[in-house]
Amino acid sequence: MQGDNYVLGMIGLGVMGRNLLLNMAEHGFKVAGYDKDEVKVKQLDSEAGKNDVKGFTSLTEFVSSLKKPRAVMMLVPAGKIVDSVITEIAPLLEKGDLIIDGGNSHFSDTNRRADELKAKGLHFFGMGVSGGEEGARKGPSMMPGGDQEAYKVVQPIFEAIAAKVNGEPCVTYIGPGASGNYVKMVHNGIEYAIMQLISEAYEVMQKGLGLKGDEIHSIFKQWNEGRLQSFLIEITRDIFAYKEPGADHLLLNDIKDEARSKGTGKWTSQVAMDLQLPITAIDTAVSMRDLSKFKAARTQASSLYQDGVLKLSGDKAQLISALEEALYFSTIIAYAQGMHLLTQTSKEFNYDLKLDKIARIWRGGCIIRSTFLEDIYQAYKKNGSLEHLLLDDAIAAKVNSIIAGTRKIVSSTAASGIAIPAFSASLSYFDAFRSERMPSNLIQAQRDYFGAHTYERIGKEGTFHTQWIAK
Ligand code: 6PG
Repeated sequence: MQGDNYVLGMIGLGVMGRNLLLNMAEHGFKVAGYDKDEVKVKQLDSEAGKNDVKGFTSLTEFVSSLKKPRAVMMLVPAGKIVDSVITEIAPLLEKGDLIIDGGNSHFSDTNRRADELKAKGLHFFGMGVSGGEEGARKGPSMMPGGDQEAYKVVQPIFEAIAAKVNGEPCVTYIGPGASGNYVKMVHNGIEYAIMQLISEAYEVMQKGLGLKGDEIHSIFKQWNEGRLQSFLIEITRDIFAYKEPGADHLLLNDIKDEARSKGTGKWTSQVAMDLQLPITAIDTAVSMRDLSKFKAARTQASSLYQDGVLKLSGDKAQLISALEEALYFSTIIAYAQGMHLLTQTSKEFNYDLKLDKIARIWRGGCIIRSTFLEDIYQAYKKNGSLEHLLLDDAIAAKVNSIIAGTRKIVSSTAASGIAIPAFSASLSYFDAFRSERMPSNLIQAQRDYFGAHTYERIGKEGTFHTQWIAK
């Protein structure tokens, strides 16, 4: 097994790193792994079976086992650990070698690291990897960004191990700089929004329709067999069937209603604000995770504002069908906002992103994979410079056919006191987006009134200021 020609070396043999390495080995690549922790190295060796994988606890031995130009990938927690790994490994590498960070690093960190390493003649890639532990082992979706020439060295490996949809690998060169981390960050923003929307559908089912776990399970099962088919609906279906051994109720009912996060959703919202690009569904999802943490205050408020939560009135089957439309509609808006952010970013950061390719590699392997991504792929394939997904004719036809159900759910939950903020935000965004004239003229008038900030007029060039009341 020992040899000096390992084509890729992985630093960090936690479950993600190990699984990715085993996936590479299974596809016939001779790969090496490094971890300070001997137990993890032994685990890699024992899981490798007949495949040509070698684990190291010595960094120098690990580096010298690699084929030149060396490709070193790291899968370690984002943040300071990435910097300390780079500090350790960089002096052992040579000009032309490539370091790939496969974690969810902030794109600004990736830019800084790439610049520092460039000065040493080393290539640095930020590569988003999506799909969790199982994806890493069986086929993830990957978003590599950096120097295109350097990518060629590792391209065959990543294309072989990626998930496949219609025979096409769910990996593509994304673009220069930190574009790989950036695109993965937006993927996660969309992930946050869809998870929030599915949770709101659950809220409507339990509070608005009074459904029990087994009924909710069969609805998600049915939805997953239709146009809503996606990884996130599929796992939700399974969650509504899971009971701990010997238990008579769902494990879900015992889980605290306080959502955690590692930051990628928040980063997406922060960047979008900086770029002045609205992504209301994603923002709402981030805010609702944050609100969920105020458990004590929420509990206090629930007794202070006892105005009851009412069941939705109407035919149950019709309401479930309207809910399916509302979820489909809002999911489309979440994807549309994420893609819009990518369009804007591509211009601002000179990433030259190809949105059709991004949609293509999100169709499989990643957390937001869904049947609808095929529609997104087709829309951008048809028109690479499509400004907004909602402006595509085929998407518009779909949206027009589901808007009535969405309105029904948003209005009746508002009347019943049931919170579905991401659904509402998606609908309001849509209604504002389709308004040829928004009420923003009044904002301009107010700004000019109190601050002489001026305004532009319809049909007249220039900027204007008015003395709104006589002094
Ligand atoms: C993926 C996931 C992955 C991770 C999330 C969790 O694409 O495989 O997005 O990257 O599970 O970042 O994020 P939070 O902890 O912030 O929910």
